[in-house]
Amino acid sequence: MTERNESAYAVETRGLVKSYYRGDASFNAVDGVDLRVNPGEFVAVMGASGSGKSTALHLIAGLTRATSGDVFVEGTRLSSLGDRALTIFRRRRLGIVFQSYNLIPHLTAEENILFPLRADGRKLDAERRDKLCALVRELELEDQLRQYPDSLSGGQQQRVALARALIGDPAVILADEPTGNLDWTSSRRICEIFDKLNREEGRAIILVTHEPSVAIWSSRIVVLRDGRIVSDSPRAAYDDASELAARYQELAREAAVR
Ligand SMILES: Nc1ncnc2c1ncn2[C@@H]1O[C@H](COP(=O)(O)OP(=O)(O)O)[C@@H](O)[C@H]1O
Ligand SMILES: [Mg+2]
Repeated sequence: MTERNESAYAVETRGLVKSYYRGDASFNAVDGVDLRVNPGEFVAVMGASGSGKSTALHLIAGLTRATSGDVFVEGTRLSSLGDRALTIFRRRRLGIVFQSYNLIPHLTAEENILFPLRADGRKLDAERRDKLCALVRELELEDQLRQYPDSLSGGQQQRVALARALIGDPAVILADEPTGNLDWTSSRRICEIFDKLNREEGRAIILVTHEPSVAIWSSRIVVLRDGRIVSDSPRAAYDDASELAARYQELAREAAVR
């Protein structure tokens, strides 16, 4: 049985740990993370390569199981769900985007966007059809719908991936370096879309990035180091992206001299 409403947050992690083996020794890629994300909050997670950002996001997405600790999404404890229930929960409540877009190559843009509904056995009723039209207009994909992923630019592919993440109306959006493969202009466009999804639609967002110019769009910036949170501040604590970059450099230096 699903245990509901164990947490009032959009996302909450309690003592979250994920261990992996490196050679013979086990180490914690995520090492006791307590994170609470309010409904409608936009959190950027920063940290050097290998600091555990992707592992933490995948745990929150239910794509990997925690070694210990708990993840709650909209009050549901992920560990209370079996594999099948977890897959369905993820498809219905979470929108996930990755750096590499992860589009299905032999499906058109439109088929990719609709894929989560099909996989869920849901019909493309009038409401979903309207949703598709609105998304396609908003993400400026009208002329790309019949195209296959390999004929689209990186920015267009990421917008298709975003439309696919949004078609099921998720309350929480999880993004792992979504602008990592994009040029400056496409990257900015994606940031503007996240900003709008957050401000106008009130969706909670957890966005992993190592780029200060992307993190600065959020309302709160969390920095990970060696699987632990070492800084957690409102966006307003930083004047601009360059101040964030400087502070972030400092944290990296502290790590190097430890
Ligand atoms: N499946 C895995 N097996 C073993 N080690 C892993 C695995 N996934 C990640 N790691 C290790 O965990 C640490 C954190 O990785 P990751 O979460 O990908 O960091 P980031 O996204 O911040 O670059 C790294 O040392 C990485 O090598
Ligand atoms: Mg990563």
